[in-house]
This record gives sequence, structure tokens and C-alpha cells, in this order.
Amino acid sequence: MLSSPILVSLALLISLPLVLFLSQQLLPQFTFPFSPDADDLALFHRATTHTTTHLSTLTNPKPKIAFLFLTNTNLTFAPLWEKFFTGNNHLFNIYIHADPTTSVVSPGGVFHNRFISSKPTQRASPSLISAARRLLASALLDDPLNQYFALVSQHCVPLLSFRFVYNYLFKNQLMSLASFSDFNLLYPSFIEILSEDPNLYERYNAHGENVMLPEVPFEDFRVGSQFFILNRKHAKVVVRDYKLWKKFRIPCVNLDSCYPEEHYFPTLLSMEDLNGCTGFTLTRVNWTGCWDGHPHLYTPEEVSPELIRQLRVSNSSYSYLFARKFSPECLAPLMDIADDVIFRD
Ligand SMILES: *[C@@H]1O[C@H](CO)[C@@H](O)[C@H](O)[C@H]1NC(C)=O
Ligand SMILES: *[C@@H]1O[C@H](CO)[C@@H](O)[C@H](O)[C@H]1NC(C)=O
Ligand SMILES: *[C@@H]1O[C@H](CO)[C@@H](O)[C@H](O)[C@H]1NC(C)=O
Repeated sequence: MLSSPILVSLALLISLPLVLFLSQQLLPQFTFPFSPDADDLALFHRATTHTTTHLSTLTNPKPKIAFLFLTNTNLTFAPLWEKFFTGNNHLFNIYIHADPTTSVVSPGGVFHNRFISSKPTQRASPSLISAARRLLASALLDDPLNQYFALVSQHCVPLLSFRFVYNYLFKNQLMSLASFSDFNLLYPSFIEILSEDPNLYERYNAHGENVMLPEVPFEDFRVGSQFFILNRKHAKVVVRDYKLWKKFRIPCVNLDSCYPEEHYFPTLLSMEDLNGCTGFTLTRVNWTGCWDGHPHLYTPEEVSPELIRQLRVSNSSYSYLFARKFSPECLAPLMDIADDVIFRD
């Protein structure tokens, strides 16, 4: 007979690997670099291969805008967005990717039940690209009527009414069924694509000297705003891509020049279909006097009808429809001018 102390230590010894195994299964893996692809591949595959409902089988189909909220804090501006969306229920869908390590709660209303399965996100890692791809894939799968996909953050606000945005994107046309197939020509993607940037070469090598080769030669490396509006064809291009993603997902060795989410989308789309892109983002951001990678954060004192009107104006033939970044305290002054200024086009 074995004495009980020996039994206890034996049992402990035997259970140790089991405890270790279980703790690895149960504990969320929140360390970086993480494996961004684990269990996303099935989602991406389904999103690009599933047969969409043929639109002609739907009565009176109207295209929708999928709003993709990428956030790691509560959606402070939810009341303003709620006002923006009100009355347009059949013309949009909302999807939220919220970092699961934070305690982001649903604001309810139009945001109720709109969270997609998410993973942690962090600056200077490919996790923001993964999150955007997850949002695009979910929206592609969810509704064949999603024809434009607008990526926004918790710091973004609308500068105009939903009606204006919708008619601006869809060119005041009620799309005929036939035009869905020519969509890409009529309805380009609004994504900034720049080939000039003083730090472009450091950023190109941020993942390691020449690791981008041969898939991405430096001449093809582009930079642009992380926030874009893609058409359905380009949303699929992004979700389907593995060739470039294989390179951009490599963790950075130079964290000071590590902004993969500002390069992946413009580089991929300029290589795949430059003519289908405007090269211009519709989300205004103010970089004046900023050197730390964070743009100007508007304070409540700065919010005024003049600011909103000023932010809409661009140097190109396009107007800005959204703007960032606004501090959470800007909600009250923005709500004050919502009806009379922001949503009165
Ligand atoms: C979100 O709001 C909830 C409830 O107000 C709060 O408990 C939580 O800490 C907030 N989370 C973040 C990330 O701000
Ligand atoms: C941009 O930010 C600067 C401060 O960094 C500010 O002085 C300027 O008014 C802002 N411009 C606009 C158009 O809001
Ligand atoms: C337009 O161009 C001028 C001159 O280059 C520049 O100062 C200004 O910031 C630009 N405005 C916008 C909205 O980009």
C-alpha cells in the first residue's frame, strides 16, 4: 500500500501537465506577436467563396453601406451616429470589432448585437489589419446588399447627413440590377494611395531588411490613411489576399517605423486595381504640427459650425464626409450642432 502523502504528490505530479495544458486552453492568448490567422482563415474563405443570393431574386434591392467600427474603447459618439443613421434602416448595416481585452460595452440602439468575433488589437502590429479584414469578411458574408464598406474608428464623426453620404457614394442613382456587375467602374473605392513619404523606406524595411521581396518591391510600396471606403469587389480582394498578407503580417523589428495598417491596404489595392480607386480618403484628419504618429485631437472648445464646414472642404474634387480625431468630451458640443449644422446639408 502507498502512503497517502506519496499518493497526493503522485496525483499532483500526474495532474501538473493537465493543469498546464488546461490553463493554456483557458487563458486568452493576449501576447504579441500573436498568430493573426488562427481561425480567421475559415471565415475569409467562406466570405470569398460563398455564393451570394442572386440580387435579382430580391424585390427592389437597394445597395447598402456597411459601417465597420474598429475600436478598443466605448463608442462615445454613438448618440451622434444614432442620429446619423435614424430613418435609413434598410440602407446600412453596422459591424463592430472591439478589442476583447478591453471592457467595451454595446451602446444599444442601432449598435445592439452588432459585435463580430474579435481579437486583441495593438498599434505597431499587424493586428489592426487583421481586425479590418475580419470586419470586411463578416460584412461580405452577412448581406449581399452591402456594396460599400466604410471603416471608421471610435474617434470618427460624420460631417454630413446619411442621405448625403449615401447619395454621394451611389451618385444619386438607384442602381439598376445590371449595374451591380459594372459596380467597380461606376463606384470606385475611396482609399488614399500615396507614393511619397519622407519615411517610406524605413517603413518598408520595418519588418526586416528587404523581407517584403519579392512580393512587394519598394517601387510598389504605398502609404495612405488607415480609414477607407471600399467597394465590394475590393473588399473581396482584401479578404482573399494571402500573397501580400504573408509579408505584412511579419512582426516589425523596427517599432518606430511600424504602421503596417497604413501600408497594406493602399499597396495591395494599387497593385491589384489602381484604376478602381480614387486614391483619396473621404475621412478628414488634421496632421498639422504632429510628429508622434497621432493626428490633432479636437477639443470641445474647437467644435463649432465653422469647424464642421471647414472640415468638409478638400483640395480635390471630393468632399470629406467624415473626420477624426475628436476627444470624447466633444460629444456634447457636436450633439448641440447636429441637427442645425452637421445633418443639414
Ligand atoms: C465602457 O463602459 C463601461 C460601462 O460604462 C465601463 O465599465 C467600461 O470600463 C468602459 N470600457 C472602456 C474600454 O472604456
Ligand atoms: C489643425 O490642427 C492645428 C493644431 O495642431 C490647429 O491649429 C488648426 O486649426 C487645425 N485645422 C483645422 C482645419 O481644424
Ligand atoms: C490644401 O492645400 C493647402 C496648400 O498646399 C494646404 O495648406 C491645406 O492644408 C490643404 N487642405 C486640405 C484640406 O488638405
